[in-house]
Amino acid sequence: MTSNSKKELPPSEPAATGLRKGLTSYGDQGFSLFLRKAFIKGAGYTDAALNRPVIGIIDTGSAYNPCHGNAPQLVEAVKRGVMLAGGLPMDFPTISIHESFAAPTSMYLRNLMSMDTEEMIRAQPMDAVVMIGGCDKTVPAQLMGAASAGIPAIQLITGSMLTGSHRGERVGACTDCRRYWGKFRAEEIDAQEIDDVNNQLVASIGTCSVMGTASTMACVAEALGMTVPGGATPPAVTADRIRIAEESGARAVQMAHEGLTIDKILTADAFENAMRVLLAIGGSTNGIVHLAAIAGRVGLELDLQALDRMGRDTPVLLDLKPSGQHYMEDFHNAGGMATLLRTLKPLLKLNTMTVTGRTLGEELEASGPGFAQDVVRPIDRPIYPQGAIAVLAGNLAPGGAIIKQSAANAELMEHEGRAVVFENAEDLVKRIDSDDLDVQADDILVLKNIGPKGAPGMPEAGYIPIPLKLARAGVKDMVRISDGRMSGTAFGTIILHVTPEAAVGGPLAQVRNGDRIRLSVKNREISLLISDAELAQRSRDNVVVEPTAERGYRKLFLQTVTQADKGVDFDFLSAPRMVGKTPRL
Ligand code: FES
Repeated sequence: MTSNSKKELPPSEPAATGLRKGLTSYGDQGFSLFLRKAFIKGAGYTDAALNRPVIGIIDTGSAYNPCHGNAPQLVEAVKRGVMLAGGLPMDFPTISIHESFAAPTSMYLRNLMSMDTEEMIRAQPMDAVVMIGGCDKTVPAQLMGAASAGIPAIQLITGSMLTGSHRGERVGACTDCRRYWGKFRAEEIDAQEIDDVNNQLVASIGTCSVMGTASTMACVAEALGMTVPGGATPPAVTADRIRIAEESGARAVQMAHEGLTIDKILTADAFENAMRVLLAIGGSTNGIVHLAAIAGRVGLELDLQALDRMGRDTPVLLDLKPSGQHYMEDFHNAGGMATLLRTLKPLLKLNTMTVTGRTLGEELEASGPGFAQDVVRPIDRPIYPQGAIAVLAGNLAPGGAIIKQSAANAELMEHEGRAVVFENAEDLVKRIDSDDLDVQADDILVLKNIGPKGAPGMPEAGYIPIPLKLARAGVKDMVRISDGRMSGTAFGTIILHVTPEAAVGGPLAQVRNGDRIRLSVKNREISLLISDAELAQRSRDNVVVEPTAERGYRKLFLQTVTQADKGVDFDFLSAPRMVGKTPRL
């Protein structure tokens, strides 16, 4: 054989599957498999079981997370589905995060959960994975982690809670939590009544029953093609939810056989569908941050201006609180996402792939003709004529800001007012209810330093309470501006995600008491009414020192977290190369 003759390549080894995947490094592959099988046999498994495709099931059940209170039943049903389809189910835990049990804010931990999800999928042998998530940050964390891990994956939503009843009125978390707390602050209801309603707001396990972030991300996950059809809406305690779990398990086995990896599903068109849905459901503003982070994991940049253009021709169709009247269980009874997607069909990309191996269009075709209902409005009779969320820009937010216009007060959306400034969350707590606070109903409340680095973790503190003396006088809404987020269950004329945030020296840091600010949602404008020269001078006089930490997760967080427009992900977790933008309008 001459030196330039073609070398005969050995036949390539088939990729390892099942228990043979990702063997532990002992320097001897045969021994690694031998040892792995010996240990698992200690739990009573046979070789017949161990030769099947392995389906990981991420169990996020936790006593601290009542939104995932049905995790044991879901795990059992997924296992049944896996075994019926000829796979071997292997459930394992990851971090679980609940909104009300995570300090300083659940968002601070979302990226940690995504890393846990990604690395445990990578580290342990599995051919596909079913991820059980529900509470706000869990679904985005799992989608981010799975997108980076790259294997076939299905999102299984835990499902919404049931609604309760308080003195004849139907109530549910968390829009009604805020409404009743507002009444209590304004002294419209007494301590006895606020205690009574506390027992009724969360009537069962499951996620919040309105279109908060959890419901938003459930709908977004289905629109992305990441759940089995109908996976977004069944309430947590229903038979439908358990059936979805069984179906997800069975489908995961098929996905493993087909090699239907997550990159074939999370395409630019799939994100465009997800954003259409986000706008049409009156979805949580948090959905934008999470979608930017998930897209970043597959090398797609979320184009905020294109999203805003999309919003101008995407009406809000879903009549759910806080933008409308109904609750998630009503949406499910009205046919769930199939009803919504059927109505939105002319605006969707129907050729996107879903976890079923069929396209969104094929699944819609299979879902039948629909029926009369009053939760999803026809496109010519919307709840709100434009999309739920508008993207603002101006010298106060050069990198953008957003407002949930469908939950805002129409009279305040074109407004100029005097700034009443709070330097940070502590300052707000100290002064907001003071009788001495110099504030009028037509002022604009500005809260700094609650962005990704400022708080840190970008807490949902953007829903600044109405100052007590104004609340007592009957003021229900004011223009409020911050670099933080707000819960999807909240409502009001609230500008969020101001980018860059104050803590990294964004113009928000330079706003002073008494400055004039102009909001024009019509013109998509948020402006601080001072000259460029004055703004530049203030930046020189008031140099912002970015927050740091000496050690641990906080140090990693502060050194690597990105701004809201990039999804508040860690910079080293997004794809190494950006390959495009979404939506492509
Ligand atoms: Fe878990 Fe609302 S607190 S979904």
